Amino acid sequence: MAAAVCLVVGQGYVGLPVAMQAVEAGFDVIGFDADSSKVKRLNAGDSYVEDVDSEVVQRALASGRYRAVATLDDLDGFDVAVISVPTPLREGAPDLGHIETAATNVGNHLHKGATVILESTTYPGTTEELVAPILEDRSGLIAGRDFHLGYSPERIDPGNPTWTFTNTPKVVSGIDEASLAAVRGFYDQLVDRTVPVKSPKEAELTKLLENTFRHVNIALVNELAMYAHDLGIDIWEAIDAASTKPFGYLRFTPGPGVGGHCLPVDPSYLSWRVRRSLGQSFRFVELANDVNDHMPDYVVRRLVVAFNQRGLAVKGQRVLLLGYAYKKNTGDARETPAASIARQLVGLGAQVCVADPHVDEAQLPSDVERVDADAEELEGADAVVLLADHDAFDLTAAARARFVLDCRHRLTGPNVEQL
Ligand SMILES: NC(=O)c1ccc[n+]([C@@H]2O[C@H](COP(=O)([O-])OP(=O)(O)OC[C@H]3O[C@@H](n4cnc5c(N)ncnc54)[C@H](O)[C@@H]3O)[C@@H](O)[C@H]2O)c1
Repeated sequence: MAAAVCLVVGQGYVGLPVAMQAVEAGFDVIGFDADSSKVKRLNAGDSYVEDVDSEVVQRALASGRYRAVATLDDLDGFDVAVISVPTPLREGAPDLGHIETAATNVGNHLHKGATVILESTTYPGTTEELVAPILEDRSGLIAGRDFHLGYSPERIDPGNPTWTFTNTPKVVSGIDEASLAAVRGFYDQLVDRTVPVKSPKEAELTKLLENTFRHVNIALVNELAMYAHDLGIDIWEAIDAASTKPFGYLRFTPGPGVGGHCLPVDPSYLSWRVRRSLGQSFRFVELANDVNDHMPDYVVRRLVVAFNQRGLAVKGQRVLLLGYAYKKNTGDARETPAASIARQLVGLGAQVCVADPHVDEAQLPSDVERVDADAEELEGADAVVLLADHDAFDLTAAARARFVLDCRHRLTGPNVEQL
């Protein structure tokens, strides 16, 4: 019997791991991505997603059960389709254009009995109110009666060696019982544990709840860090002490701001939905956005004050940003707070250089200098700002720089100031 065909739309941070795991599970997998340069790299066995080794892609290609495609012209149906395309914000509002295009393409190839699953993070209601009508319109079929439809949020934590795609429980849902069974049956072959919820709306909200929870708690410690500094209190000591409480407390730490594809974006999908449907403002999200969005300004202000205390203007100073990715040990610079910090420092006339072995040249602004975090650069900098504490950095050497603003609480020494 021929293997079941799985179409994965979008071969990025989310879609590629799903595709690779589906190959492992025995599916014939078609990885469809609108970016033909990515498709070319995948078909050459070259992974651009850090959590997926190139050898894994090469093995999948060699098995004959994986191919990447940039068009679906030759596709003769599928058994399961997973949609994992971006859901950005445009002028503060959800931009569902990628989902609409993906659903149109999937609908064009949808046959009776197939299952369609949305994985993109989005506001509650998207699967039933946006995706289902497009699929029905393109295929002439009826959701539930002729094909299964569901939503399953992704929980990928890039760079996390403990919680991987397979051992992180996966929330699953369907528009009816048969759809839930089909969606669950698919993921049961890919991950260790699935967690069913009663409809796609609950599954969509689960993802937004998880990310809003992080966003709000990070904003809480960020705001507290600013006040504690002004009050002369060591916030880190308080956080360490609070973290010894074995119940009712979860540790979050201050930083230079939030980045990546999730925290700066996802909570706004929820607040947009609340405002549009209920006419209410989701105040926690608005406040967390406000605090977290302004952390880069605070980092720059602390640097300006530090130079001022030494009788120096920022203009002309050589400032070395250690880490440009938004997160430790990753090369993901999407929405990174480092971009705003670099831009503001350049605007003040500083000579800004960036050391980040994980981030591609193309992701760096053109007006900063890319350098290695070697002894010469660390000694030559008038100030070093630790933004992402990658394992690749020699933090002991960094702590000896002329002045260090440590936004990650990793360094100690007479020249080090904590955020
Ligand atoms: N990256 C994460 O850690 C993470 C975690 C959980 C959820 N998510 C969510 O998953 C979704 C995808 O995120 P990602 O990080 O994988 O994004 P990504 O940018 O890494 O990948 C998306 C891919 O989709 C492709 N694409 C865009 N429109 C397309 C279309 N119409 N047809 C085919 N391909 C198309 C892009 O070229 C890109 O390669 C988003 O909704 C995101 O919020 C991401």
